[in-house]
Amino acid sequence: MPELNPAQVIEGQRQDWNRVAGGWEKWDRLFDEQMAFLNHRLVADARLHAGMKVLDLGSGTGYPALLGAHTVGATGSVTGMDLAEQMLAAANRKAKRLGLSNVSFRTGDVTMLPFEADSFDAVTSRFCLMFLPDIPKAASEIARVLRPGGWVAAAVWSAPEQNPSIGLSMTAIKQVIELPPPDPTAPGIFRLAKPGDLAGMFQQAGLVDVAEQEFLAEWAYASADEYYTSLMEIAAPVQNLMAKLTGAQQQDVKQRILQAASNYRRGERLVFPMAVRFVAARKPQ
Ligand SMILES: C[S@@+](CC[C@H](N)C(=O)[O-])C[C@H]1O[C@@H](n2cnc3c(N)ncnc32)[C@H](O)[C@@H]1O
Repeated sequence: MPELNPAQVIEGQRQDWNRVAGGWEKWDRLFDEQMAFLNHRLVADARLHAGMKVLDLGSGTGYPALLGAHTVGATGSVTGMDLAEQMLAAANRKAKRLGLSNVSFRTGDVTMLPFEADSFDAVTSRFCLMFLPDIPKAASEIARVLRPGGWVAAAVWSAPEQNPSIGLSMTAIKQVIELPPPDPTAPGIFRLAKPGDLAGMFQQAGLVDVAEQEFLAEWAYASADEYYTSLMEIAAPVQNLMAKLTGAQQQDVKQRILQAASNYRRGERLVFPMAVRFVAARKPQ
């Protein structure tokens, strides 16, 4: 396997997510309607309540930072960090529309947190940690900036077979072009899918009371067209693979994705199972 250059991974991530930021804003309704429960679960696992000072890692367009800000109220605050300034611009617009003045967003790599030790009451993160080239380092940084007794709560994707709305696109692409065998340690959507992986890294970082649960749910699209178009406009890793294909291959992949997705049809809608791994842990007192 070629050596991963962390700086290149980070820059690639920054460019990828900036490129799809418009898609995330366009399809924001899908996230709000279909995935809000994930934010509520993170807010609960991180034990957020009024007055807390919270750090959200990889906030993207504001999940779960915005719910966190609502929960901690005017006496608390949320700082959201992300590499992609355009994702954060969308998050800022939403915060303004929601009238939330206790949340701020800053660009940066979450493996190098520019904060003093013990400076946050809680840390949250949804669908970010698996994209980092050095996840154990991020876990150590989380442990450093948490105040003693404070909780971190993170959500990452479980296995691709349990998340067919994403997984089947990867399978379709692999049927059309040969891809190098995946490096299980390379950053990517399913890098932390394995039970115990992230939990072990939190433990190694000195966190305690580590709790992990695979949470099963469903998400739905109004039509096959809505599913395919939003997937291509939101999922940066899928977009990257599609960019390697010729026009004819892209059409082939599209047909394969739509064919595989039709197994999940319920009336006009497509309803996919979803499996998300929630991992929470606490800094010792
Ligand atoms: C799938 S999006 C999730 C966004 C949001 N948390 C959500 O759940 O809707 C992943 C986000 O992680 C960010 N990200 C990836 N690597 C990062 C890093 N090293 N530091 C900060 N943010 C990173 C990306 O820019 C992107 O916005």
